[in-house]
Amino acid sequence: GRRGDPRRDLAGKHVVITAGGTREPLDPVRFLGNRSSGKQGVALAQAALARGAWVTLIAANLEVPAPASADVRRVGTALELDAAVTDAAAHADVVIMAAAVADYRPAAVRADKIKKDDTGDSLLLELTRNPDILAGLAAAGRPGRLLIGFAAETEPDADRLLALGRTKMARKGCDFLVLNRVGWTEGFASDRNEITVLDRRGDIVCEASGSKLSVAERILDLIV
Ligand code: CTP
Ligand code: CA
Repeated sequence: GRRGDPRRDLAGKHVVITAGGTREPLDPVRFLGNRSSGKQGVALAQAALARGAWVTLIAANLEVPAPASADVRRVGTALELDAAVTDAAAHADVVIMAAAVADYRPAAVRADKIKKDDTGDSLLLELTRNPDILAGLAAAGRPGRLLIGFAAETEPDADRLLALGRTKMARKGCDFLVLNRVGWTEGFASDRNEITVLDRRGDIVCEASGSKLSVAERILDLIV
């Protein structure tokens, strides 16, 4: 079995994994964030380490502990994650973008706490688009480096979910896209996951459900 006799099929490979969710500061005490726990990215890191990889884990506000034997780089915002992953990806064999990256950040970060008395009954926030890190990595890709994206969608209909995944794959230009459904109860905080993986052509190459660790193993099988 796997436990007694682990496969070392990622030995000598450098795997870079982003995990968690970015937080975009509004003022010294507040941020815009998302509900990503980091569990799937951490499970990928654990599985890759067990299979012999050298793992750089770019950790954005994880709700779970990072594996001790990973090279952990802590980041807060999307721009920090961009800088860290661009740096680590230079020598990587595989880059897995499991993190939930904020699409927008506040246009200005206030030096002081925003006060109700200064804003009144409603407050309008101006947001600026963050760079698309995955698309940027794909555009600057080099032969032999595999790039894996994630797509978390709330679409309940299976066919429409797949169509969304195919459109996203075409837009991102990564090698594999891991599609999963998220919602108020599914996905983020859960210890389980259900995924469909698409290749560059949009063909389904893997469907898996189970613990986040077992799903991680299936994703790594594809990478190998
Ligand atoms: N991603 C990224 N940089 C961003 C936003 C997302 O690298 N600024 C990555 C995520 O880490 C994930 C993939 O892109 O691997 C898909 O993220 P997702 O939010 O599903 O796609 P978006 O392109 O942001 O589209 P939308 O949120 O509008 O569905
Ligand atoms: Ca997004």
